Amino acid sequence: MRTRCEIWAPAKLNLGLRVLGRRADGYHDILTRFVAVDLYDQLVFTRRIAGGVSLQLQVDSAGVRPGEFPLDEGNLILRAVRLVERAAGIRASLSISIRKTIPIAAGLGGGSADAAATLLAMTRLYGIDVPPRELGAWGAQLGADVRFFLGESAAMGRGRGDELTPISLFRQWWAILVTPPVFVSAGDVYGDLRLTLGAKAANFHDCRDREGFLAALRRSHNDLEAVVLRRAPEILLWQGRLREQGAAGVFVSGSGPTVFGVYMSQPSEKTVQSLRGGGTGARVEVARPVTTPLALVVQ
Ligand code: C5P
Repeated sequence: MRTRCEIWAPAKLNLGLRVLGRRADGYHDILTRFVAVDLYDQLVFTRRIAGGVSLQLQVDSAGVRPGEFPLDEGNLILRAVRLVERAAGIRASLSISIRKTIPIAAGLGGGSADAAATLLAMTRLYGIDVPPRELGAWGAQLGADVRFFLGESAAMGRGRGDELTPISLFRQWWAILVTPPVFVSAGDVYGDLRLTLGAKAANFHDCRDREGFLAALRRSHNDLEAVVLRRAPEILLWQGRLREQGAAGVFVSGSGPTVFGVYMSQPSEKTVQSLRGGGTGARVEVARPVTTPLALVVQ
């Protein structure tokens, strides 16, 4: 049996997000277009003879500010381990090392991607034969976005965001992601939403070619944006700066605070450096859509 497994877990962007209504379970029904992009957390899982489960954060983890990444049982990675232990009736002894690059609590799905990577690694390392559908259901127990990372690299999400339909997507574009140094909780953002329903099921048109993609960008909108802007008004300035650089569309991802611009040609180093300058404390990254949601690098 394998004893080591390395997985690169990507970030996701929401190219549009409509909130359709409140649900009885405390969540909201949404309609969103998920796209995985090449900003990766790198996770290495190593089985050991005994000693239980340990989690270490690599010191060169760009995505983490001090105290932001709990290494205890509250971490979604360890919750994923416990879930598999219960579901498969095993007791894991495992060392997990993560090099975190995806900004935390940023609307980029980093925690969910790490949880999905953990579910996949556990099934490989412990030879657990679980059908994809069931693995997805395990993921959905951990968070609304986890299932996306276990499926296709571009998908429409309905329900809580975990009822997924793969989509074909034009992929010749770049995104500049800006994550300002503010904390906005997803629960608070959804909780603050003034729902003006009537919720037409947005214009999530086909976007497999350049033209369709550009049309879809023009019609897309994130309903959570207004709430995020109230909590972090500096995002408005970032939206302006991203537009100035020629963005074909500018969106808040998920419940923020990350805002991203979509560009049809590769942003120059000069552009990126100018956005990084000025001591704002914001993370600025360039990313492209990927074709594999979870990249199993070494088994
Ligand atoms: O599932 P996850 O833990 O990522 O969601 C965080 C919070 O965001 C939820 O507790 C809920 O308050 C809110 N949420 C929601 N509707 C969704 C997704 C998330 O209300 N579709």
